[in-house]
Amino acid sequence: MARNANLHAANAGKNDEFYTQLPDIEKELKYYKQHFQGKVVLCNCDDPYESNFFKYFALNFNALGLKKLIATCYNGSPVSGNELLLNFGDTVDDPKKIAYKVEITEVTDVNGDGAVNLADVKYLMQNNKNIISILKENGDFRSKESIDLLQQADIVVTNPPFSLFREYVAQLIEYKKLFLIIGNVNAVTYKECFRLIQDNKMWMGASIHSGDREFRVPDDYPLNAAGHRIDENGRKYIRVKGVRWFTNMDYPQRHEELVLYKHYTPEEYPKYDEYNAINVGATNDIPIGYGGIMGVPITFLDKYNPDQFEIIGLDRYVKDNPHYGVRFKINGKETYARILIRRKR
Ligand SMILES: C[S@@+](CC[C@H](N)C(=O)[O-])C[C@H]1O[C@@H](n2cnc3c(N)ncnc32)[C@H](O)[C@@H]1O
Repeated sequence: MARNANLHAANAGKNDEFYTQLPDIEKELKYYKQHFQGKVVLCNCDDPYESNFFKYFALNFNALGLKKLIATCYNGSPVSGNELLLNFGDTVDDPKKIAYKVEITEVTDVNGDGAVNLADVKYLMQNNKNIISILKENGDFRSKESIDLLQQADIVVTNPPFSLFREYVAQLIEYKKLFLIIGNVNAVTYKECFRLIQDNKMWMGASIHSGDREFRVPDDYPLNAAGHRIDENGRKYIRVKGVRWFTNMDYPQRHEELVLYKHYTPEEYPKYDEYNAINVGATNDIPIGYGGIMGVPITFLDKYNPDQFEIIGLDRYVKDNPHYGVRFKINGKETYARILIRRKR
């Protein structure tokens, strides 16, 4: 974590506690409003007392026209369950070791203050015990109880534990759910994830294509990453690079034409030593009118319009790579990871 905080490092360290900020959720969700009317939303890696995903959907329950919001809290979460326990009147030895769910089917002015807002949701959670219940299992998204909830849901939205990202995505696909999840751009190089992108079953979200984003981390998180801060309440935040949204919900911007201006020359676009494709160093440099296969950087996916280009494969795993599993070379020198594409029109 020292030099470059990223969700990939989270994978290595099995440290999955990065809490997404509300403005980042709002900036992305605004592209998908049309998908949510009458839908059941599940946030299945989300402690309702901590998660801004829960907060976002509770706040926007009526504006989005949701039918139901379900959030489940995994019992490994490092947050205190005290508030919840007080509400329940239950006693549990270690308040951190409980898994529970919240289910909301309406948000109205229950506290009678004349406004419909988060205070009503809090009031509901404190006064209506029916909406909160302790899970029998541990809230693991793979547990039977969680899968039953998944089956009830239309759309899943969360920041899943990065160390389980592949499994998490595979489950969403298996149960044919619409989803919007946040993760690390490196996930696209996982064979299984890349296959989904190639088959047009998953794509990048709309709002993050570069830079870093701030995530809240647990109080005991070591702050040795490059960018971090502690707010006035002592809460810790780190800046994380390579963050991207992944979804299978369509949005219009995804179909915007990538405007190109360069022309092909063999000098500027060398071919790989043992694969019949040209190397393109930057997505904006894709040559106009080139009809063959082109190797482009992974960040091409930030601009990928499936009407304009077809994805052939990932360099290492494309089936006719003579050295399957190994990246391409130019004059004997290995290139960066490349996605192979061809224009459709
Ligand atoms: C990256 S954090 C994100 C939390 C929250 N979604 C947010 O963005 O604020 C991932 C969350 O998943 C929880 N988690 C870890 N393993 C899990 C599992 N197997 N099933 C469900 N949740 C899990 C962690 O406790 C953690 O709260």
